[in-house]
Amino acid sequence: MLDWNENKLSVATPPQDGGTADGTGLGQIDHGAARISVDDKAMINCRADVNQLLPMKYRWAWEKYLAACNNHWMPTEISMQADIALWKSRDGLTEEERRSIKRNLGFFATSESLVANNIVLAIYRHLTNPECRQYLLRQAFEEAVHTHTFQYIVESLGLDEGELFNMYREVPSITGKAEWALRYTQNLSNPDFQTGSLEADQAFVRDLVAFYVVFEGMWFYTGFAQILSLGRRGKMVGIAEQYQYILRDESIHLNFGIDVINQIRAENPRIWTAEFTAEIRTMLKEACELEVAYGRDTMPRGFLGLNAALCEQYMHFITNRRCTQLGLQPLFPETENPFPWMSEVMDLKKEKNFFETRVIEYQNGGALSWE
Ligand SMILES: [Fe+2]
Ligand SMILES: [Fe+2]
Repeated sequence: MLDWNENKLSVATPPQDGGTADGTGLGQIDHGAARISVDDKAMINCRADVNQLLPMKYRWAWEKYLAACNNHWMPTEISMQADIALWKSRDGLTEEERRSIKRNLGFFATSESLVANNIVLAIYRHLTNPECRQYLLRQAFEEAVHTHTFQYIVESLGLDEGELFNMYREVPSITGKAEWALRYTQNLSNPDFQTGSLEADQAFVRDLVAFYVVFEGMWFYTGFAQILSLGRRGKMVGIAEQYQYILRDESIHLNFGIDVINQIRAENPRIWTAEFTAEIRTMLKEACELEVAYGRDTMPRGFLGLNAALCEQYMHFITNRRCTQLGLQPLFPETENPFPWMSEVMDLKKEKNFFETRVIEYQNGGALSWE
């Protein structure tokens, strides 16, 4: 059994040349370079050859790559028949539920693409070790699978594709979130941007926080809770099953991002000044406020088992957890998780059907206090 945290707190030696010596992996081959050793590898600003996966340093990244490959799924494996019948029925869903489902799908439909573009066009180039890049390549594919999921849902239900795919431009509570995150990636996707200075390294970490911790680790979670809550009541069960698979993928994305940030911090303690720490906490607070506004917008009156107030409490709980994972003080007074069943759904195996296991959980008297 490999230890995910092995070598996690090791500190890199100064950058060395080797292999293709420009950091991208695509420069001139350095014929005379010495063979690289594990200690030559570093998270950022490393000039050791990024084309050599072995010798392996960051086993936690490799383990996540293996876990992700073991979780492979495709949206078309899931039947949409029950969802189609319910969506087309006259009174199977309330207006509030329909509005919430459409806004939810609209938010995710383009968010998956924003996350994918950030990985490929902003993060990949600056994360200078092959273990993390191996995981990024797998994650990028998973984001493509997630975008495919929304194409499949739109097509299955006969939804207005223009309405859904333009929500991130036309619905203010969704636009607010997309604009907030884009601020952090625009700087990095500039071809002239290079890490290496304190300012640039901090900008890189800010982007990792904005996308891994906030986008994938906070904002997606309200969306998951909305759809999975409906699914637990037997509504839109196909979409709920797809969201369950997406949630399982995203929980690995989030944990990878947290590990990357904490490893960069261990190797580059100079980045984490008092001001920078305060800035990251402010980012998480702003992100939480944007999500609370989105919750009010998507569920103005709420529906069975879910409303904006519960989503606000859930977001405070999630924000505090993200703070702890990043070694920061919590932002909100200690708050209980109003949706304890969310952690249960994350643990299910692919071969188990979510709605069959729900019955077993009822029989076992599981913690289904979501109502
Ligand atoms: Fe995704
Ligand atoms: Fe993701």
